[in-house]
Amino acid sequence: MLYEGLVDGDVLPDAVSASLGCGVPTAVADLHPGEVVLVLDLGSGAGADVLIAARRVAPGGRAIGLDMTPEMLALARRNAAEAGVDNVELLEGYLEDIPLSDGSVDVVISNCVINLAADKSVVLQEAARVLRPGGRLAVSDVVADPGMDPRTRADMVAWTGCIAGALTEADYRSALADAGFEDVGIVETRRVHTHAVAAVIRARLGQAG
Ligand SMILES: C[S@@+](CC[C@H](N)C(=O)[O-])C[C@H]1O[C@@H](n2cnc3c(N)ncnc32)[C@H](O)[C@@H]1O
Repeated sequence: MLYEGLVDGDVLPDAVSASLGCGVPTAVADLHPGEVVLVLDLGSGAGADVLIAARRVAPGGRAIGLDMTPEMLALARRNAAEAGVDNVELLEGYLEDIPLSDGSVDVVISNCVINLAADKSVVLQEAARVLRPGGRLAVSDVVADPGMDPRTRADMVAWTGCIAGALTEADYRSALADAGFEDVGIVETRRVHTHAVAAVIRARLGQAG
């Protein structure tokens, strides 16, 4: 189990057991009470990561979960209430059109969602827009091997399983740089498919925003 042995998993059992993620972005987001004001989770699903983030930045900090699916938001709200997490807000909306103002968050996290977007560049540009200059990105995602074969790319089952839509590492780096991110690190965590790996992607938004 992805969250086993990590703090918070034991106190958020429903959210963690419903996770559809491919990593634990909060484990690498370097969240501390007081330091971070606002964390945004792109595609928060049942809420595991946004609830862990909310607990990590309390007291004083807050976390926002963004998801397009009302049913997932309702489930995350139930999980937040059951876990007694009250410094969290769950917003309906799209990664491609984040309903937050420019420079309004300190950290963006996401777990196995960006690869699902039709245009990942738009998502990364939106993440950069809502981050404050110098803000950071810590994402778990699927990264495709270079030269994924056309049959896998075309396979919609693989798409919904987060494989066929994934960027290669080179494409991820290029899309992050185009969006204004610097200090990019992409570290493979495990192989999830013959043609793809799960990875942790970390970056910092340039001071120019
Ligand atoms: C694979 S699940 C991952 C959920 C969660 N991050 C986790 O680790 O369990 C994908 C989630 O992202 C949401 N989602 C997918 N594409 C989205 C988009 N373009 N905008 C907003 N939410 C999206 C879905 O509704 C779903 O809850």
